[in-house]
Amino acid sequence: MKLVCKNLAMTFLNARSGDRIDALGPVDLAVEAGEFVAVVGPSGCGKSTLLGILAGLIKPTQGEALLDGKLITGPGRDRGVCFQDYALFPWMSVLENIAFGLKAQGMGKEERESHAKQLILRVGLVGFETRYPHELSGGMRQRCALARVLAVDPQVLLMDEPMAALDAQTRQLMQDDLLNVWAVGEQKKTVIYITHSIDEAVYLADRIIVMSARPGLIKADILNDFDRPRNEIRTMPAYAEQINRIWSLIKNDAIQAMTK
Ligand SMILES: Nc1ncnc2c1ncn2[C@@H]1O[C@H](COP(=O)(O)OP(=O)(O)OP(=O)(O)O)[C@@H](O)[C@H]1O
Ligand SMILES: [Mg+2]
Repeated sequence: MKLVCKNLAMTFLNARSGDRIDALGPVDLAVEAGEFVAVVGPSGCGKSTLLGILAGLIKPTQGEALLDGKLITGPGRDRGVCFQDYALFPWMSVLENIAFGLKAQGMGKEERESHAKQLILRVGLVGFETRYPHELSGGMRQRCALARVLAVDPQVLLMDEPMAALDAQTRQLMQDDLLNVWAVGEQKKTVIYITHSIDEAVYLADRIIVMSARPGLIKADILNDFDRPRNEIRTMPAYAEQINRIWSLIKNDAIQAMTK
């Protein structure tokens, strides 16, 4: 198993009010190398918290998260992380942001730039190389963040709604790009992909984890084994059925999360 969560839970303590917020779990999850796992669930159910723990940025208050059998104690180059809020460096240009992780890998300046330029082409940011994040639209920032993660080519991709700010057409193109990146090479990457969009989960993933309202528990673990490539599945009745099935699992929790 590539990633394992054992009895994993997180309770945040609000330093000002002293309130405890049970954000997640307990969750048990095992993800095989090469699996593309989507995580869906109502707003505030702990999805980003789960990803933060796997990224090594949040220390769980209960249980453990393992990568290749080893306890996750901090961030690492073996995991590429794409945050909900893009997390670009505001003082770096698009090109510098994308090339950033390559320096840490020991790549020389020219090679870094040429590699970053290929990615800029792929995510459609040609002409914006020298712009800074605040000069970009939300969708462009998201594409830049995606390119930055893909640049370092990690074995594990941890993605938190990486396409939420993209327009519908760009999103479809980027989804196919992501699937190409995922499958390229001898060993597929392991992907944990958080999304609000059930149809996106069904289009992308091998497996879909449905979480309940906060504190998020795993409510369902659904095999999503449509044949690949899936370019044609959006018109298939089975695709719509799968989406409806998952929505029916989330609906009450989503309403509860909105009114709580
Ligand atoms: N650092 C923190 N301190 C205190 N509470 C937090 C912290 N981070 C998250 N929470 C709380 O934990 C709960 C889960 O948050 P989280 O961001 O993981 O949810 P989510 O499923 O990603 O939501 P969304 O779908 O809206 O992004 C929320 O109630 C949130 O307010
Ligand atoms: Mg979130």
